[in-house]
Amino acid sequence: MFKRVIITSGPTIEPIDPVRYISNRSSGRSGLYLAEEAVKRGIAEIIFITGPTCFLPKGVTIIPVETALEMRAQLQRYSNDADVIIMSAAVSDYRVVKYSTKKIKKDQDTLTLQLEKNPDLLFELGQRKKPGQVLVGYAAETHDIFRHASEKFEKKNLDLLVLNEVSSENPAFNSEENQVYLFTSAGMRKLDKMEKSELAARIWDEVNRIKKVKVDDEKNEG
Ligand code: CTP
Repeated sequence: MFKRVIITSGPTIEPIDPVRYISNRSSGRSGLYLAEEAVKRGIAEIIFITGPTCFLPKGVTIIPVETALEMRAQLQRYSNDADVIIMSAAVSDYRVVKYSTKKIKKDQDTLTLQLEKNPDLLFELGQRKKPGQVLVGYAAETHDIFRHASEKFEKKNLDLLVLNEVSSENPAFNSEENQVYLFTSAGMRKLDKMEKSELAARIWDEVNRIKKVKVDDEKNEG
């Protein structure tokens, strides 16, 4: 059913100087399992755009990136022809304003880094979504989770939002298991806590279902 899919994975890192960066706790496991499941399902072209992580799938085209801006450039290159885009990467929300080409020495007692916002790549993809394209995003929320999730779903023009409630019982990051909610235009569904590999299969099932609805809608319109 799908010719080309894009999966983004891992964290992005935002350099401060030649030896330091800011980043986040994403391990890249979710992206790995989504890609492995896509391989199992026989999808012809799987473009895997990944920040630095040790979880790299086999049988896909791996495009390594470091920063949010590099990930954006690769998405711009591949997204027009993609049937499905799954943004499972934890894109750094901010980058440092002024990269220091020399290592910053610890000669001050305090150090202030000025950060500026990175573009929201998922929002940009939602703005230029092609007819028939399935766009999947993630949300990690700690409070008012359903309100925030439904706002993101609308604002980013998504077809599927995978919502993680981040709590001590469900750390979501750096864990083998996860409990999520799936948001679609048909409503919200709570999934049981499961292995991330199993969850990847459920997400692909949902993507298939959404694609079928889109195809049927197009037929009815035409
Ligand atoms: N994302 C993105 N570009 C960014 C930040 C996030 O594409 N600069 C994508 C992630 O890949 C993920 C989703 O947006 O699919 C995650 O959004 P999240 O970080 O939960 O929320 P934000 O939209 O960043 O808003 P906030 O941090 O305020 O909750």
